Amino acid sequence: MRIQVNARNRGYEFDAQPGQSVLYAGLSAGIELPYECATGTCGTCKAKLVAGRVRDGWREAPGRKYLKGGAEFLMCQCAPEEALTVEVPDFVYAMEPGTCVPEASTATLRNVRRLTDDVIGFALELEAPRDFDAGQFVLLAAPGVPGYRAFSMSNFARGARRLELIAKRKPRAASRNGCSTPSAKARSSSASGLLAKRLSSRVSARTFSSSPAARASPA
Ligand SMILES: Cc1cc2nc3c(=O)[nH]c(=O)nc-3n(C[C@H](O)[C@H](O)[C@H](O)COP(=O)(O)OP(=O)(O)OC[C@H]3O[C@@H](n4cnc5c(N)ncnc54)[C@H](O)[C@@H]3O)c2cc1C
Ligand code: FES
Repeated sequence: MRIQVNARNRGYEFDAQPGQSVLYAGLSAGIELPYECATGTCGTCKAKLVAGRVRDGWREAPGRKYLKGGAEFLMCQCAPEEALTVEVPDFVYAMEPGTCVPEASTATLRNVRRLTDDVIGFALELEAPRDFDAGQFVLLAAPGVPGYRAFSMSNFARGARRLELIAKRKPRAASRNGCSTPSAKARSSSASGLLAKRLSSRVSARTFSSSPAARASPA
């Protein structure tokens, strides 16, 4: 599906796979579209629909409260239903050559272990080695869980076959904003939002669509 994005400085054209969100398609094409959480909470990826129709994957996304008017939508949650023309109210640049762009993959869950009462460590074994840059995160999808959840890698070697991740159990009363939950601070005692800030640097997150539950075989 063809997408035309008109930013403040120039226009871009790229294609989205069926069901792929506008944001993930643009980042995969090496275009630095604006985003922070990539999972519907922060509103940073808002854009205006000029032509075409989108399917909204999460109509209750907390990030929608930042939208003004019926034509605005969250690029991380919406996939094109037909060719689109979209306006982004930011300067948008092409990524530098060699930047690790998001790429979908499946992975197998390995080595799940309890680190504290409410924190586990686990690994994802990828089908093929991947490079990623410091500050990048992975988006995981699991059967039975709607949408994606973001997790930050705790390993850093290039050409990694395994991603090492840490997850903190979220209290029931926690905020719906993934950037401000205790989970987002699992690896840092710094202020909430640190991860999202750090991740909004020039490199984009790599995106792995993973199905750990379907292929879980903890080592
Ligand atoms: C950049 C970034 C990095 C992060 N890194 C880590 C990390 O390293 N470790 C860690 O533990 N956590 C991390 N988090 C937080 C993590 O992604 C989850 O938000 C957290 O684990 C809580 O998940 P949750 O499903 O319980 O709640 P939330 O993600 O806050 O979601 C709340 C509720 O909203 C609903 N919901 C959410 N998404 C959708 C959807 N797409 N469609 C329909 N309903 C939906 C569900 O009912 C869900 O229970 C990170 C978050 C961000 C943004
Ligand atoms: S990047 Fe889309 S809502 Fe945060």
